[in-house]
Amino acid sequence: MSRQTHSVRLVSDAREAARILVDEIAELAAKRRGQGRSLVLGLATGGTPIAVYEELVSRVAAGRLDTSDFVAFNLDEYCGLTTADPRSFAQWMRARLFDPLAWPAGRTHIPAGDLGPSARARHCAEYEQAIRDAGGIDLQLLGLGRNGHIGFNEPGSSRDSRTRAVDLAPDTRTDAAAQFSPREVPTQALTMGVATILEARRVRLLAFGAHKRPALTRTLGGPAGPDCPASFLLEHGDVQFFADRDALGSYS
Ligand code: PGA
Repeated sequence: MSRQTHSVRLVSDAREAARILVDEIAELAAKRRGQGRSLVLGLATGGTPIAVYEELVSRVAAGRLDTSDFVAFNLDEYCGLTTADPRSFAQWMRARLFDPLAWPAGRTHIPAGDLGPSARARHCAEYEQAIRDAGGIDLQLLGLGRNGHIGFNEPGSSRDSRTRAVDLAPDTRTDAAAQFSPREVPTQALTMGVATILEARRVRLLAFGAHKRPALTRTLGGPAGPDCPASFLLEHGDVQFFADRDALGSYS
């Protein structure tokens, strides 16, 4: 319990969390450069991390941060969308972060959503290898699904799951529906696994709003279990949960 209390940070809003996190990212990048290495970030899509990306872009624009050597691995991508599809996470990341920061394609990685089923397993294994080849993820940013998912590790995902194709849960498809016509809401995605996420050296999960409270309460209350994949983060040695009062509820 004391470790959980220690790792929970109450913030007033997403912008406060973003300032704290980008401070940490800047410090970590400087440390890595001192070691002759590039910072490797694990990135997420969705509404939750937008303030972090805005903070990164504005600090770089103001000349207060250099991200020119950063390497990035995204958590997930919908199956059935090409990287050029405006609804893909690949395009979302380009618009929000990669293009504004002028990160070249060679240093950004997102699972390929447009592969046929027979090519997916190999691609997922190569994705895991690319993370290892980059030296592993230094800091993984996460949102929290209303159903407790991290990445697209839906309830039922195991502690030792790896990058793979998954079926999307009904809640997740409902949340995705705004971007798609009803017939086109994706049914599957590629996602880093729980074990992949737990290998990141630091994990920072963000959760804002009362709609995240049940999943966050379950996560922080433990025990770690597949009914709430985010709860496996309790087994990570360097995890912090940033949340506002609405999401934290009785934990705040
Ligand atoms: P959100 O999604 O950031 O859009 O709330 C989080 C998630 O489902 O992982």
